[in-house]
Amino acid sequence: MTKIAVIQTKPIFGEIESNLQTIKELFPTSADLVVLPELCTTGYQFTNLDEVEKYSEDFSDSHSVDFLTKLARENNCVIVAGLAEKSGQKIYNSAVVISKKGLIATYRKINLFYRENLFFSAGENEPLVVDIGFCKIGVMICFDWIFPEVARSLAKQGADIICHSANLVLPFCQDAMITRSIENRVFTATANRIGNENRDGIDNLVFTGKSQITSQKGERLISASLDKEEVVFAEINLKLARDKKINEFNKLLK
Ligand code: ACM
Repeated sequence: MTKIAVIQTKPIFGEIESNLQTIKELFPTSADLVVLPELCTTGYQFTNLDEVEKYSEDFSDSHSVDFLTKLARENNCVIVAGLAEKSGQKIYNSAVVISKKGLIATYRKINLFYRENLFFSAGENEPLVVDIGFCKIGVMICFDWIFPEVARSLAKQGADIICHSANLVLPFCQDAMITRSIENRVFTATANRIGNENRDGIDNLVFTGKSQITSQKGERLISASLDKEEVVFAEINLKLARDKKINEFNKLLK
C-alpha cells in the first residue's frame, strides 16, 4: 500500500519564505508521496512582468527546490509541487517532482488559464510521467483538467496516479477528476489552495479548496474542507490502476 498526502494551503502572495514555513508545519511524516498546490510558494495572481521575474526561480539554483528536497529527505518521500520557473528569457508555471536526492523532473503547464497567458509561457513538452520506483506518477497543473487528452496522455504513458497541483477557481474540477479517473482507470490526487486574491483590481479570484484523492474507479476517497489549511491522506494499492480490463471484451486504452 502507498500512502498519499495532499496538502491544502493558503499562500500569501510574494511571501516565499513564509509560504515554505507553512508547508513545513503542515508536512506529514508518514506519507510516501506528497502533493502540493500550484504556485505554492509565490501565490497566484501576478499583476505585471516585474513580479513574475522577481518571484520565479531558476531550478538549477532554487531556494524552494532545496527547501523541498530537505523536506523529502527528512520525511522519506517524493514531493510534487507547483512553482514559478525561470528558464532563460521564459517564465513557466511549472510543477517539480522532488525526491530525497533532489529535483527529478519538471512539468511546464501546457494549458494556461485566463490572465496567466499574460505572464507565463506555455509548456512546450508532452505531459510528464515519471517512474519514482514504487509507482509511475503523471503530473498535471490545474486547468489541464479541462482537457481530457492530458489525463489520457498520462494514462497511456503508464501513470498509476495523476498528481494534480491546482489553484482552482471554476467550480467543476473536483467532479471532473472523478471522470478523469473512470475514463483512464487512474488514481488522482488534487492539491488545491484556499482563500482569495484580488491584487489586480480586475478579478477577485476565490479558490475552491476541497482538495481530494480519487480511486481508479472514480470513488472520492477523501476530500478536504473548503476553507482550511490542512493535509488529507489515502492509503491505496496503486497497482490496481494497471488493470484496464472492464470485461472480457472491453479494455480501456486498447
Ligand atoms: C488555474 O488553472 N489555475 C485555474
